[in-house]
Amino acid sequence: MKRIKIGVLGAGSFANRFIPLWQAHPLVEDVYLAEKLEDRRAAAVAQHGIRTSYASYEELLGSDADAIGLFSQRWTHGPQAVAALRAGKHVYSAVPAAISLAELEALVSAVRETGLVYMMGETSYYLPTTVFCRKRFREGAFGRFVYAEAGYYHDMEHGFYPPYQGSNGPDWKRFASFPPMLYPSHSVGMILAITDARMTHVSCLGYTDDHQDGVFDRQLSHWQNAFSNETALFRTSDGGMCRTNEFRRVATGGVRCSVHGTLGAYEEQPGAKMWINHDRSTVDLREPLTCGKVERKPKDWAAQKKQGAQDDFFSGLAPVHESDRLPDEFLGKPNGHGGSHQFLADDFAKACAQQKLPPVHVWTAAKYCAPGIVAHQSAQQQGQMLPIPDFGAPPADASFAELA
Ligand SMILES: NC(=O)c1ccc[n+]([C@@H]2O[C@H](COP(=O)([O-])OP(=O)(O)OC[C@H]3O[C@@H](n4cnc5c(N)ncnc54)[C@H](O)[C@@H]3O)[C@@H](O)[C@H]2O)c1
Repeated sequence: MKRIKIGVLGAGSFANRFIPLWQAHPLVEDVYLAEKLEDRRAAAVAQHGIRTSYASYEELLGSDADAIGLFSQRWTHGPQAVAALRAGKHVYSAVPAAISLAELEALVSAVRETGLVYMMGETSYYLPTTVFCRKRFREGAFGRFVYAEAGYYHDMEHGFYPPYQGSNGPDWKRFASFPPMLYPSHSVGMILAITDARMTHVSCLGYTDDHQDGVFDRQLSHWQNAFSNETALFRTSDGGMCRTNEFRRVATGGVRCSVHGTLGAYEEQPGAKMWINHDRSTVDLREPLTCGKVERKPKDWAAQKKQGAQDDFFSGLAPVHESDRLPDEFLGKPNGHGGSHQFLADDFAKACAQQKLPPVHVWTAAKYCAPGIVAHQSAQQQGQMLPIPDFGAPPADASFAELA
């Protein structure tokens, strides 16, 4: 099988967790880097022993990299992915895939027309809760889907200032007001990664911010956005209902979900993970769904935190994870976000090497992102119920990569 060269765009704290995984992967020949901030580029080159690095994305696109890994700012991914595909490169994109319906359309067209591999790195796809519920759902243990709720809770003060400040200079507040529902894939994706349906309609409300940091100031915001928190209610294609929260000004933290079916339910709250049978008997799932701790943070942890690294960037695997599919070379390598990083890095390397679909391909990415894009439009119209476009499915002759 052909080994690939991956060119990573961006040397922020998130990319630093994936570079060592791809460097260690047996299907990856080399990892290049492009980063315009000279000090960040130099630090990453030294930290990871990178042999080939560039100061611009254009230079990386002109290189002999077979694939691009996008770890740039969250509002830039759609056009950058299209540029990479049009340059003949497979694409791994950190979330979100895109921030407008037009960008999503251009992305889906580029994948369809080039036939190249596209994957969105949705970490919630491999959270222990999602892995467990997806399996139970496929076995029929939930019965018919009724309702799910999911949320991504991340207060601006909980480590969100540094990445915006570090990458966007004195103008950072203009960008830190990024509308919460334009980053919807952790909550929407967590539900749809279990049920495999799609969101068809949405009504969403926004919470107008008044915090003294002045981030969500409509006049200042690049997106004229004053909402720090948004809550959406969805109709789903399987006849059910969902509610998702994308909160950036809230005391709680993390990504979690609960799912109700006619036969069984899963309930999750901080400190509680519970399966509920139809006879109301319960199973405590904290042990199988809790990731092993990473005992030791890196020596430069304080410096990494200033750059935006967060505690959830570090985690082991949970008993529910099917870790024997991962390459042995990943033993002792970094992992994070509920054990998901290693699965995502492995999905992409295998999909590229086999030239087949990864689990979160472009049509799935569109299913995870379009609902939030329309939800934000709804919030701007006081909760008007709006239809969500269907971006369709992979071509009939496409097949999924072997991951085991
Ligand atoms: N759980 C998750 O899925 C998760 C968690 C954290 C971050 N993320 C995503 O990962 C991405 C990276 O996050 P981060 O916090 O490391 O971001 P960051 O803003 O700290 O780093 C982005 C880097 O990309 C560089 N860059 C952007 N465009 C460039 C260009 N054209 N040429 C050269 N360099 C360029 C910037 O200079 C910056 O250093 C974001 O999109 C974020 O949404 C996802």
